[in-house]
Amino acid sequence: MQLTMIGTGYVGLVSGVCFSDFGHDVTCVDKLPEKIDALQRGEVPIYEPGLEDMMTKNVANGRLGFTLDLKDAVGTADAVFIAVGTPTRRGDGHADLTYVYDAAREIAHALKGYTVIVTKSTVPVGTNREVERIIRAENPDADFDVSSNPEFLREGAAIEDFMRPDRVVVGIENERTRDVMAKIYRPLALREAPIVYTDLESAEMIKYAANAFLATKITFINEIANLCEKVGANIQSVAKGMGMDNRIGGKFLHAGPGYGGSCFPKDTKALARIGQEHASPIKIIEQVIDINDDRKRQMTDKIMYLCDDKVKGKKVAILGVTFKPNTDDMRDSPSLTIVPALVGAGADVHVVDPQGRKEGEELLPSVTWADDPYEAAAGAEAIVILTEWNEFRALDLIRLASVMKDPKMADLRNIYDPIEAKEAGFDYISVGR
Ligand code: UGA
Repeated sequence: MQLTMIGTGYVGLVSGVCFSDFGHDVTCVDKLPEKIDALQRGEVPIYEPGLEDMMTKNVANGRLGFTLDLKDAVGTADAVFIAVGTPTRRGDGHADLTYVYDAAREIAHALKGYTVIVTKSTVPVGTNREVERIIRAENPDADFDVSSNPEFLREGAAIEDFMRPDRVVVGIENERTRDVMAKIYRPLALREAPIVYTDLESAEMIKYAANAFLATKITFINEIANLCEKVGANIQSVAKGMGMDNRIGGKFLHAGPGYGGSCFPKDTKALARIGQEHASPIKIIEQVIDINDDRKRQMTDKIMYLCDDKVKGKKVAILGVTFKPNTDDMRDSPSLTIVPALVGAGADVHVVDPQGRKEGEELLPSVTWADDPYEAAAGAEAIVILTEWNEFRALDLIRLASVMKDPKMADLRNIYDPIEAKEAGFDYISVGR
């Protein structure tokens, strides 16, 4: 099939590359000439394990291309995927749909023959119908249907999630659209990936409900972690014991410094807003948003407490600034609250992150970048683990303590054993234990 992806951000690029790997002919369109130039040179703009190899392979076999020319790419397509950004609108928390609707308008005038317009961007309920209305108004003769096909891939595991999804959700209005979508996803159906066909509104809602539920699960375990600290329980045992109940499940029960990234913060805010607008507030999500914001401040207090409330003039080493491992993404990362607070309190902050420096240099201007954890820790009076990169999981704690001025560690991802850390000489705190 001929597929066109509008937008080469995380979702658009990963989906486009994976669809070409299924054997479809894929053209990825973007408005930014420098982005398309880079992609045409074979450069991947994001850090995502496995993506570059798969992209290079499919460009070489002629199934994947990149262009600025939307008109040409849409005209030949069986399906056009809208995968543009839906950032939080300034001021009101609503998802900003400008890019989605602009894309719909442009697509309308480029359609030739029957085409399915698929929205992959995360969009509030009603957006697909509005896309349909816009295209119909712009080009009354167009032969098209719309489909809602939200994406559930995680950064850092994007290819694996796309290729082996728990489910694919497809919102449709008729059998003709279903046939096209079934052909597109046939390679996954053959591997027995469940495909859920539903109406447009339900498909849109599934995406927000899933992300909001996962954000709630994390927030729940973070609050239980706080209580564990007070009563002397261990959050890791609690999460394990809870998660063994199949109705709960063990995933997304890792206590930490609060969720971040490009999705949970944005989507929880948008869902809360949708609820308010429909006079059906989702109070639990409103609470989750507040609790998660507070959590980042609580984590700063925790670090300050470890340092006897005095960090002025002290060197503090930070391990990890991206919102999670295996990504270079810093969006809404807890580090963006915690590091400036430490700098503001007078700490001399030294940072190490395997991929975060590129974005981090601009976002965290007052820190010194180190090449490895031992360099960051040399002469430091505290070390803080913010992101659980594999590189940080097996450090030589005795060596690490020996290069520090005063070995204190705030392990906000619980990657070390408290007894081992204490035996290595650390004054050690973690989360929920
Ligand atoms: C999330 C969802 O997991 C994907 O299914 C979804 O497709 C994506 O949003 C999206 O809407 O595009 P992502 O933001 O890449 O994916 O990252 P996650 O792995 O979900 O982690 C989000 C945040 O939660 C991170 O800050 C992570 O550290 C935190 N987290 C996650 C925890 O603190 N504890 C956990 O147990 C799990």
